[in-house]
Amino acid sequence: ETNHFTFDPGFTSTASCESQITFIDGDEGVLLHRGYPIGQLAEQSTFPEVCHLILYGELPSTSELEVFNDTIKQHTLLHTQMDRFFEGFRRDSHPMAMLTATVGGLASFYPGAMDSEDPAERRLNSIRLLAKMPTLCARILKYNLGQKYVDPRNEYSYAENFLNMCFSVSAEDYKVDPAIAKAMDRFFILHADHEQNASTSTVRLAGSSGAHPFAAVAAGVACLWGPSHGGANEACLNMLHQIGSVDRIPEYIEKAKDKNDPFRLMGFGHRVYKNYDPRAKVMRESAHEVLDLLGLKDTPILKVAMELERIALEDEYFIDKKLYPNVDFYSGIILDAIGFPKQMFTVLFSLARTVGWVAQLNEMIDDPTQRIGRPRQIYTGAAKRDYVPIEKR
Ligand code: SDX
Repeated sequence: ETNHFTFDPGFTSTASCESQITFIDGDEGVLLHRGYPIGQLAEQSTFPEVCHLILYGELPSTSELEVFNDTIKQHTLLHTQMDRFFEGFRRDSHPMAMLTATVGGLASFYPGAMDSEDPAERRLNSIRLLAKMPTLCARILKYNLGQKYVDPRNEYSYAENFLNMCFSVSAEDYKVDPAIAKAMDRFFILHADHEQNASTSTVRLAGSSGAHPFAAVAAGVACLWGPSHGGANEACLNMLHQIGSVDRIPEYIEKAKDKNDPFRLMGFGHRVYKNYDPRAKVMRESAHEVLDLLGLKDTPILKVAMELERIALEDEYFIDKKLYPNVDFYSGIILDAIGFPKQMFTVLFSLARTVGWVAQLNEMIDDPTQRIGRPRQIYTGAAKRDYVPIEKR
């Protein structure tokens, strides 16, 4: 018995690992971070609080949160030489290509992190990456837009700071709307960690060799980019625009069910959830709130999303295959309404997931029994045979 859920200790496999950070019950649609339900965290907490919880195991006291926020604020700036990284990219580079390269490149500025036996140094690097990701992600947006970078400001909260760095221009400061900042903060909470998903497993595997923690996170960024994983939020908005109107939904539902058609409903289905993704529920409410706030609640895209969800949830194929909306189904609608280009959506997922990647990496490093990862294979190739000289082939 653990966490008041039955836990089958009998299930062991070289592919699994032990962790105390996140618990998912895919059949029941349950997601807990250090025991706290995601719905309560999304509604009552803030992203910095959730970062403290995921990193250190407990929700912070007022003074602990103050220290945590102040420490982050000491590390939000990027070394000015990072500017030259960006000059090497084409202006129309995909933001995830730039993020993969620049997160890996950050490792060159902190060589000490490789041999940090000192937990304090390792924690500083965790905070350092958490602090710099918003600055890096905002710079990527500004580079794509051809606008001057906006530096972090210490008077802002984590989410407000990111919005300001993204949307302020030299001619006019961005007016940070507290309700939009709250929606951004909630988006970060909903994406913070999700136990051993593909990108987190990639970070653990890369880190298990003793690689630089920033390089291991860069490997996670690369994996998250795929449309089957974090890239689904961008792909889902593209799909909603492709469908375009409510009356075309049945045609696409049939395409999604056709085994010979590569089309899948982006934002639907999950490796673990065979019930409604608890994050998608909160995201759907947040989408309504943000669009209402911005006077966009009649936008056709939301109508298509709601009707697509309604029809799919009543369709026998999706019911039989236990396909429900996941975290990516509504998130793109929110980010699009706030003003982010859709190519930036997975960058924002990466920004939020950095705390999960770092916490899972540190948990693995702290485990004295940890060894280098080595997935096994079932060999199905040719049996042993002798070499044949080319003149005899
Ligand atoms: C994330 O792991 C995580 O935790 C990831 C994540 C996180 O926080 O880190 O939650 C974030 O990546 C969410 C998933 C985002 N991806 C998408 O929305 C892309 C669209 N969905 C899929 O491509 C798919 O559902 C996957 C990749 C998510 C899961 O694929 P699986 O493992 O094949 O799903 P499954 O085994 O449950 O599929 C059951 C059946 C299969 O058909 P059969 O082989 O049984 O005939 O349902 C089919 C699948 O082909 N199916 C779909 C479908 N998803 C699965 N059919 C139509 N549309 C879909 N979206």
